Amino acid sequence: MEHVPVLLHEAIDLLSVKESGTYVDLTLGRGGHSEAILKRLGENGRLFAFDVDPAAIAESTPRLELTGKPFQLIEANFATFEAELKRRGVKEVDGILMDLGVSSPDFDDPSRGFSYMKEGPLDMRMDPTLKESAFDVVNSYGERRLGDVIRLYGEDYEARKIAHAIVLARENGPIRTTTELAEIVVAAKSPKERAKKGHPAKQTFQAIRIEVNHELDVLEKALESIPRMLAPGGRAAVISFHSLEDTLVKRAFRSLTRNEKVGRNDPNSYLIPTSSPAFLDLTPRPIVPSLAEQSENRRSLSAKLRAIEKKKGVQDEGQA
Ligand SMILES: C[S@@+](CC[C@H](N)C(=O)[O-])C[C@H]1O[C@@H](n2cnc3c(N)ncnc32)[C@H](O)[C@@H]1O
Repeated sequence: MEHVPVLLHEAIDLLSVKESGTYVDLTLGRGGHSEAILKRLGENGRLFAFDVDPAAIAESTPRLELTGKPFQLIEANFATFEAELKRRGVKEVDGILMDLGVSSPDFDDPSRGFSYMKEGPLDMRMDPTLKESAFDVVNSYGERRLGDVIRLYGEDYEARKIAHAIVLARENGPIRTTTELAEIVVAAKSPKERAKKGHPAKQTFQAIRIEVNHELDVLEKALESIPRMLAPGGRAAVISFHSLEDTLVKRAFRSLTRNEKVGRNDPNSYLIPTSSPAFLDLTPRPIVPSLAEQSENRRSLSAKLRAIEKKKGVQDEGQA
């Protein structure tokens, strides 16, 4: 399936692209958002776009070339975007965009192993150079660790039962395919949970994907770099697709836009008043897709867009 960019106009409008600005798309995918940024740039503007997936870089290059505008694609994890840009002499940028998760063509390609509906190898790596795939997580983690992953990253109440069923199934040999895993998960769930909306294996697949790609850790690292890399007047917009991502984005942006500093990695963290905030909250309520977009693109259903602006002329304590 072609990737239909989610919240495209809303995100690009929020970035308020300046013709001669420097922009970064941290999640290139098939280039929908990058193309829209390039179309608004003049010949002195610049776009840097990151992706860990070489297929995303290869497939979006011709599309972006058609705009005739200057861009540079960087095959790297966005966790390292600050260092990658600084290595290229870029100290600050006017806008940063993140559209998190897996792109639709990768999700639908059975050989990438993301889908619980289509048979494929248990892979789930966005970055094919990662050492551990879903196969390693599913077949080598102990029952307790597996249960923790499914509960924390899948937010599944039946995580312990699912982990137990996976470990039992492994006694007959390794679990090799997506559909094998999906069947084990479905069978482990209670009839009440199975009857709920959505595929019963969705949360377990989400959990394993997050674990394989260290999705929350790399998101936190990128969020930490955003305030340092934004130029005064610069903006950052992030589209997230599940509550774990959104919570990290909300907390990071809140700590920048309110008179608060929030403890990292701690859901019960306390808030410490600081001096005048250096950032403006552009989305006190997250922007969600219109009803029209929701009905045209099912994958947009859970999307939330949040954005901030770095104020001009205010020095943040952490920015000195
Ligand atoms: C939802 S898609 C982006 C779609 C894009 N906005 C478009 O319009 O085509 C997310 C992309 O980000 C990439 N990605 C996810 N996590 C990443 C990370 N930590 N570093 C770099 N790229 C990442 C994925 O490989 C995927 O191609």
